[in-house]
Amino acid sequence: MAPSSPLLAAAVALLVLALGSAVAYAAAEHEELRSRQPPVARGLSFHFYHGRCPGAESIVRKFVQDAVRKDKGLAAGLLRLHFHDCFVQGCDASVLLHGSAAEPGEQQAPPNLTLRPSALKAINDIRDQLEHHCHGAVVSCSDILALAARDSVVATGGPDYCVPLGRRDSARFATRDAVGSGLPRPSSNVTTLLDVFRKLGLEATDLVALSGGHTIGLGHCNSFEKRLFPLPDTTMSPSFVARLKRTCPTMGTDARAALDVRTTNVFDNKYFVNLVNQEGLFVSDQDLYTNAITQPIVEHFARSQGDFFDQFGVSMVKMGQIRVLTGDQGQVRRHCAVPNPGTVDGDDGLEWPSLVQTVVDAAAENLGF
Ligand code: HEM
Repeated sequence: MAPSSPLLAAAVALLVLALGSAVAYAAAEHEELRSRQPPVARGLSFHFYHGRCPGAESIVRKFVQDAVRKDKGLAAGLLRLHFHDCFVQGCDASVLLHGSAAEPGEQQAPPNLTLRPSALKAINDIRDQLEHHCHGAVVSCSDILALAARDSVVATGGPDYCVPLGRRDSARFATRDAVGSGLPRPSSNVTTLLDVFRKLGLEATDLVALSGGHTIGLGHCNSFEKRLFPLPDTTMSPSFVARLKRTCPTMGTDARAALDVRTTNVFDNKYFVNLVNQEGLFVSDQDLYTNAITQPIVEHFARSQGDFFDQFGVSMVKMGQIRVLTGDQGQVRRHCAVPNPGTVDGDDGLEWPSLVQTVVDAAAENLGF
């Protein structure tokens, strides 16, 4: 039915125009985000689930937004979980696998003992929702980890970025030694950190930007108490030392301090402002400002939150593609904590229909659909 008055017709035309430009703006912003991305690893794509499980990304985003609204710390837990997955054996969700008394899983290795149980539970809850929505085990646990990390950043005020998808999960977890050597210690200096990062294809800029993940979350006293006792580390400001001593008055105190003393639950560039003010919690944080290679990058991010956000998105995509399993490698785990039943060496536990879908998707990808 045509609008009955010229005024109404004009209003409708205006509304259509406004909606049109909003859609065009959203599409342009999406394209802008994509153009800043590093190269996508073979086998991953931005629309991997479009045909298989449309809506998968929105489900993860909604879950994380709601859950972080109730528990702010969960965002930090989810972000750290993705990092601990990727740095050990690649982004294959091996950190989620349960071990046994005879063969302890990655979660039993010391750096992982402080992973938040709420983050591990959230991944399983998201997996259940996706299983229901996608009618089966379609979205891998490793993709869920990558998406939940991104959405945690967004939920706390950080940058949005596109996550390439299509990772597959490993059926095996790493040894305790591999976890210990894969994850850098909070007492590490920049030389050691760069060594660890470079082996994974990450540069000094990635190290600084990704360390900016410490703009949210908490650290236990035992991760930094040696900087306080017996004598305070001289690269810490005296007022910061006094403040930390109120949280951790003696060696062995079981308490936690904010990683970002200024804005603990907000994803912003204050972490870098802290470093410039000698208020980094760990040696691995503060040395980024002491070291001549990384100092200018820290100063730059302390001045420009926009540039930090841009680089953080790029570096997260790089980190999220470390040694990914794709195509017919690995499996899509039905339960994130255990390998699929019947998994043996060389068997990915995947059913034929999923394999056919993988081949169809790969062909579509090559044709640029
Ligand atoms: C550069 C080397 C890194 C070292 C040495 C390091 C070390 C640590 C340590 C010791 C903690 C505190 C654990 C505790 O005492 O409870 C921690 C927490 C955290 N880390 Fe890192 N980290 C590094 C890089 C990263 C990266 C790359 C990210 C993510 C992009 C990240 C995200 C986090 C988050 C969000 C927390 C807070 C977790 C929570 O509150 O539950 N870290 N990190």
